[in-house]
Amino acid sequence: MRAPAPIATAITRMLKIRYPIVVAPMFLVSTPALLRAVAEAGAIAVIPSLNFRTAEDFERFLEGFPDLPFGVNLILKDNPRLAADLAAVRRRKVPLVVTSLGDPGPVVEAVHAYGGRVFADVVGLRHAKKARERGVDALVAVAAGAGGHAGQVSPLVLAPWLKEETGLPVLVAGGLATGRQLLAALALGDAGYFGTRFIATRESAAGEEYRRMLLAASPEEVVYTDRVTGVPANFLRDSLDRLSAGGKPWKEVYSAGHGVAFVRQETPAKTLVWRIAEEYHRAKAALP
Ligand SMILES: Cc1cc2nc3c(=O)[nH]c(=O)nc-3n(C[C@H](O)[C@H](O)[C@H](O)COP(=O)(O)O)c2cc1C
Repeated sequence: MRAPAPIATAITRMLKIRYPIVVAPMFLVSTPALLRAVAEAGAIAVIPSLNFRTAEDFERFLEGFPDLPFGVNLILKDNPRLAADLAAVRRRKVPLVVTSLGDPGPVVEAVHAYGGRVFADVVGLRHAKKARERGVDALVAVAAGAGGHAGQVSPLVLAPWLKEETGLPVLVAGGLATGRQLLAALALGDAGYFGTRFIATRESAAGEEYRRMLLAASPEEVVYTDRVTGVPANFLRDSLDRLSAGGKPWKEVYSAGHGVAFVRQETPAKTLVWRIAEEYHRAKAALP
């Protein structure tokens, strides 16, 4: 397969990537191999710093990662690793940092000082406005139906609303899994933010059972609940029973979003990025 034609937006220009496809950070799922494959395909992927067991492991990963576009996700709230991980991000000059749950101010200051970019993920307007005041470069609009901690507002509304209200570039998150949906996302915002679809890639760290459940699931079997972590998030119904039996959140109680509708086979990440881009071009040409 040859690389599909590039798709240019405010986000691709900002990050110097070929496609407006950002593979979202996923706890216990994102891997350095996934980051690499996605970057080699012309997009960018983000990894949670907490996917590395210690700050030293995280730093070793940063030192060894090749000179390709990639991002790191920092959890801002109740995260004892934050200071150490931010110091490592600064030393390695990580090109992109995505912040979640908290005030991105100190991260913006540190990352802008070396020329990196900061995106804040938000589920509503209040946080979006605060993040803009702190100087973030773009917002990730985490809408209803997203994997992980999701919002409650429809992606059809959240992304264009935040864009209008803040004037910032916006990434659309929640349910995106295909090129047709990327086309819709670019009518509403500036890039697609894909999580769930990339759990079933060869490069992800998801185990056999997780993959099997994901491939078989329908969006109607995705349950939005705060029972697992205290913050509302989406989980696969068939794994939720394990919670009462002491099953560990994320590890045995599996998260996924409504995009499971389109996860029907395992795919290498590079092929998947190219497939989404190609589908986007076909869908665009077929618009009425
Ligand atoms: C298994 C899983 C783990 C996640 N872990 C994180 C995380 O550690 N940090 C974060 O900011 N978002 C996390 N998310 C949310 C994603 O970054 C992203 O917002 C979401 O997956 C986008 O929606 P989609 O899954 O419908 O594509 C996670 C999502 C999933 C499915």
